[in-house]
Amino acid sequence: MTLLNTTVLSSQPDGIARAGQILASGGLVSFPTETVYGLFADARNDQAVAGIYQAKGRPSFNPLIVHVPDLAAAEALVDFTPAARALAQAFWPGALTLVLPLRAGAGISKLVTAGLDTLAVRVPSHPVARDVLLAAGVPLAGPSANPSGRISPTKAEHVIAGLSGRIDAVVDGGACGVGVESTIVGGFGVPVLLRAGGIPSEDIEAVLGQPLAAAGDAIVAPGQMTSHYAPTGSVRLNAKTVLPGETLLGFGPVEGASLTLSASGDLVEAAANLFDCLHALDRLGAERIAVSPIPMMGLGLAINDRLARAAAPRD
Ligand code: TXA
Ligand code: MG
Repeated sequence: MTLLNTTVLSSQPDGIARAGQILASGGLVSFPTETVYGLFADARNDQAVAGIYQAKGRPSFNPLIVHVPDLAAAEALVDFTPAARALAQAFWPGALTLVLPLRAGAGISKLVTAGLDTLAVRVPSHPVARDVLLAAGVPLAGPSANPSGRISPTKAEHVIAGLSGRIDAVVDGGACGVGVESTIVGGFGVPVLLRAGGIPSEDIEAVLGQPLAAAGDAIVAPGQMTSHYAPTGSVRLNAKTVLPGETLLGFGPVEGASLTLSASGDLVEAAANLFDCLHALDRLGAERIAVSPIPMMGLGLAINDRLARAAAPRD
């Protein structure tokens, strides 16, 4: 593919306006959301969406989330159930993605849904994301802005390291606050947790007044590939001790950690630091990474899910 000259734009009004122009004319722009940096394109434009898959080297069966500025814009694309609307009202704008039936005439490229009759939609809360969505004036399809299978980016420099020369621009809006991708809920006959993420599932269940079913198989969650978020080194989880040759990524008051997700054992801080720590381990050249145990509660579910994928056997 031809090498693009990737521009770093500021998050000031001139940078936002330029990002909006590039997106409205079919280009590829990365900008921050509260979860991670996304790589965005006009969701109605087949060629622009194809550019996302090409830039990421992503298998085309993996559908994309469409980002819109508000609930009204989402209602134009998908059919809400009362339960889905209650979740949108409780958590939007924010780190929740809803998978709902695609409306006829929504105008979304088939490359976005990968042929499914449902669409994943989200209203991000990051001010830069909101401003660029308004400036572009079109729904934006956007996966995380990393080469396929690699660690998600939470800083503009991570995006540049992975995708420079493959996208038109990145808006530098600093580090992402949440640090793990959105929680995905679908299957509104029986609500299903398709991916643990930035909104704890306990909070979602409190609004629904019922437990979320677990995503059973590849049919409900296409593209949830097992090996993902992979740093270069191997990863060993639940490490209570450090073996010779290992670099420890700590959590809580552990000894011998080279880096820590949160020295005080705070899961919110750990989520925000997770991908930056994995990128930093790559930069350190860590060949064998050990990770301290992370409790399975609140954001710990999303953190353990991402770490399990980082530790999964590679092709
Ligand atoms: O926080 C986030 O969600 C970030 C930011 C940029 O918004 N985006 C993100 O996108 O993580 P991505 O493409 O890395 O992950 C989207 C996930 C994939 O696992 C995909 O299979 C699933 O959403 N997905 C998308 N559309 C779906 C659908 N119609 N049914 C089931 N799963 C779907
Ligand atoms: Mg991703």
